Amino acid sequence: MKCDIITLFPEMVAPALHESMLKRAQERRLLEIGIHQLRDYAADKHHTTDDVPYGGGPGMVLKPDPIFAAVEKIRQERGEIRIIMPSPQGAQFNQTMASAFSKEERSLIFICGHYEGIDARVREGMSVEEVSIGDYILTGGELAALVMIDASARLIPGVLGEPASLEEESFSSSLLEYPQYTRPVEFRGLRVPDILLSGNHKTIRAWRKQQALLNTLRKRPDLLADASLTEDEREWVDQQHCDEIKSHS
Ligand code: ADE
Repeated sequence: MKCDIITLFPEMVAPALHESMLKRAQERRLLEIGIHQLRDYAADKHHTTDDVPYGGGPGMVLKPDPIFAAVEKIRQERGEIRIIMPSPQGAQFNQTMASAFSKEERSLIFICGHYEGIDARVREGMSVEEVSIGDYILTGGELAALVMIDASARLIPGVLGEPASLEEESFSSSLLEYPQYTRPVEFRGLRVPDILLSGNHKTIRAWRKQQALLNTLRKRPDLLADASLTEDEREWVDQQHCDEIKSHS
C-alpha cells in the first residue's frame, strides 16, 4: 500500500506513522508513506496556501494551485493515483473501505484541509473521493487520514503477526469479539471463567462464539442483521434476546 499525505502540519502526522505497527510495516516495505508540506508547493515568495473567501464570510480557504501542484508532483513519482479528501461531508469510512484501501494498487493521496475549507475547484478539477470518519467535525483532515491509513495498513498481509487474529476480530465476521483473559486466574476477586482453563478446545470455541453473539446482541444488535450465522445460532440469539427482555420487565 502506498500513501501520500498533503498537509500544512506534517509534524501532526509523522509521529503516529513512526511508531508500532505502521513503523514496522514501512520497515518491511509493506507500506510506503510520503508526507508533503503543502507550503512547499506554493509558488509565491511568501508560500501562501490560503486566502479570503470570494463573496465574503469568516475564515480562510485553501488555495487550489498549491494542492494541484502537490498532486501533480506526486503523480509524476507514483504513477496511478487515487485521491482521498478527508471531509465530514464524505461517504462514511468503514471496514469494507479499509479493506479496499489495503488492496489498492494505485497510490492513495490524502489531501488534508484546514481552516474553513478547500477551494471547490480541487473537487471540480480532479477526481476526488471525500471520506468522513464520523459525524463530528475535526480541526482538519490529518487525524482522519491517520485513522484511515491505520485501519487499512493493518489489513495488509504480513503487517500483523498472526493472520488468525484478523479473522477472529470484530467486523470481519460482523460480530463483536468475545472477552479475553490472561494471568492471573483471580484478580481482586474476579475469576477467569472456568471453561477457559478446561483445555477442551471444542467447548472453548463454542463458549467464545456464544460470548461474541451475546456481546453483539447487547452492544451492537444492528450488526446481527449482516452476520453470517447458522440457523441454530440465530435461534439461540433470538432466545437470549427474549430472555433478556423478560428479565428486564
Ligand atoms: N475533517 C474534519 N472533520 C472530519 C471528519 N469527521 N472526517 C473526515 N475528515 C474530517
